[in-house]
Amino acid sequence: MCGIVGFVGKSKQAKDVLLEGLTRLEYRGYDSAGIAVSDGDRINVVRRLGKVRRLVESIGETDCLGTCGIGHTRWATHGAPSERNAHPHMSCADEIAVVHNGIIENFAELREELEGKGHVFSSDTDTEVAAHLVEEAYDGDLLTAVRYATSRMIGAYGLAVMCKEEPGRIVVTRKDSPIVLGVGEEGSYLGSDIVALIDATRDVVILEDEQYAVMTADGIDYFDREGAPIEPEITHIDWTLDAAEKGGYPDFMLKEIHEQPRVVRDTLAGRFSGTEITIDELSLTRTELNFIDRVYIIACGTSYHAGLIAKDLIEGWARIPTEVEVASEFRYRNPIITPTTLVVAVSQSGETADTLAAIRDARIKGAKVFGITNVIGSRVARESDGVIYTKANKEISVASTKSFTGQVVSLTLLAMLLARSRGKFNQNQTRILFSELADCADAIEQVLQDTEQIKDAASVFEGRESAFFIGRGMGAATCYEGALKLKEISYVHAEAYAAGEMKHGPIALIDEGFPVVAVATQSPIYDKVVSNLKESESRGASIVAVATEGDTSICDVADKVIYIPKVRDAFMPIVASVPLQLLAREVAVARGCDVDQPRNLAKSVTVE
Ligand code: M6R
Repeated sequence: MCGIVGFVGKSKQAKDVLLEGLTRLEYRGYDSAGIAVSDGDRINVVRRLGKVRRLVESIGETDCLGTCGIGHTRWATHGAPSERNAHPHMSCADEIAVVHNGIIENFAELREELEGKGHVFSSDTDTEVAAHLVEEAYDGDLLTAVRYATSRMIGAYGLAVMCKEEPGRIVVTRKDSPIVLGVGEEGSYLGSDIVALIDATRDVVILEDEQYAVMTADGIDYFDREGAPIEPEITHIDWTLDAAEKGGYPDFMLKEIHEQPRVVRDTLAGRFSGTEITIDELSLTRTELNFIDRVYIIACGTSYHAGLIAKDLIEGWARIPTEVEVASEFRYRNPIITPTTLVVAVSQSGETADTLAAIRDARIKGAKVFGITNVIGSRVARESDGVIYTKANKEISVASTKSFTGQVVSLTLLAMLLARSRGKFNQNQTRILFSELADCADAIEQVLQDTEQIKDAASVFEGRESAFFIGRGMGAATCYEGALKLKEISYVHAEAYAAGEMKHGPIALIDEGFPVVAVATQSPIYDKVVSNLKESESRGASIVAVATEGDTSICDVADKVIYIPKVRDAFMPIVASVPLQLLAREVAVARGCDVDQPRNLAKSVTVE
């Protein structure tokens, strides 16, 4: 949710590294930002309400000088967005500075206890207790004091702590919240995400839960929860910083939408042997695969929508009953899980707290858990029995686009594998399907070349505050994602329905000019979709239809048509989602919205 950074060097100014890192991590939260830098005598703190840009603008040449510092960009949980609640937080004597990502669940008891001992708090946050706990325990060794503080804290934390008495040292730890560290030519770096340090080094350490790191200008030492030194595992990162830059596009979202043909190709690379779908990471034998008698797909938000699409494929092809569940509900519902249940956890970030909790729950109940994530070394990757990476590369825009495509393609491969293992497809059918799946990359490219039809369709939303997205079968699942995209970035209220449901209530909302977006591509139920559209048209709706190229009859019912190339119905969502992403962006831009950083949201949701 929040982003944290840290740097200790010999000569480079820490503030430059921190502000650059925070700018790259801003997708994690943008309610407020702040840095703390030690000048050797004291810790100087600057915090600002709003985006990192406001912080950057308010720090002058001569402010915050020093080569050791920590920084934070916040997505508010406890305590409203305000300067007083912005991190870093300080202890009473301004000697301990703390930045934190996560939630300290027992902060109220700790605060009461600390106030009883005379500590004076200056914010409404849960984080501030960490600064006072460290202050309370500090007796000349920051690592020992931080270990004491974390032993008292219940909840999730990625924590970086500085002490006035130990300039040039930062103590870092984590529990259920990501921390990445690395050493570059200029010093030691820390971030909530690799993008904060990738400029400096490609060899990073992904800190494990309850491990500690002590950063100095000379390097980083690692310790276990008992304080004993440990040798960390180094992970080499092979993607480049391009992923964290806009590359000539006006925003990350548009750039990421345009990357989708590459995502399809990369996600499929090496997945077909010529005769078989290969997902070795699943680590299940063919016999184990055949014993699977139920699949649960658990995810949140866009990842959940990818799961809805996969349900039709797994049930349709492999004939295995498949449930798709919002992770935050799954874990409190006592679902039926046995050792022959396959749980598929889908998460772009691999950090989503609800999805992680559901994974843990499923494993305790004996299920095999297969993760689909975009982030190497993320918790979903580490806590699953097997993992497939979606090859979307870093996704910066808060609204997921290319990672969704990577997820749908990965889930499609899984459905094909399950069907093939049960003998539902022969080799030739598998080959044809794989080839048609690969062709979706070209189909998306074609959609991206003709965006005039999408710009034209966006005019339907002028002056409107509400819209429906309707489709049937996989078209309905595609609409759920289209509606989410529209509401999260343009703030236009949008609801998606299975088109046949409109007449059971929602149609009452239709009046003259009400926007209805329909996925009406060629499929066995095309005629049913068209008749549902007629019901809305006759009540005055302005209809935008995503249709298959060559379908001229759709113009009889639709005011605007966005054509996409013909692909197999099973693969339609991969292609049809792209114009819906572009449409949402077009509407958002026309309304003057910040498409990359929509209000109230953050890229990864590490709190329940
Ligand atoms: O990282 P995850 O895939 O687990 O995130 C799940 C949702 O928070 C995420 O998909 C969210 O809905 C996006 N803002 C959608 O664009």
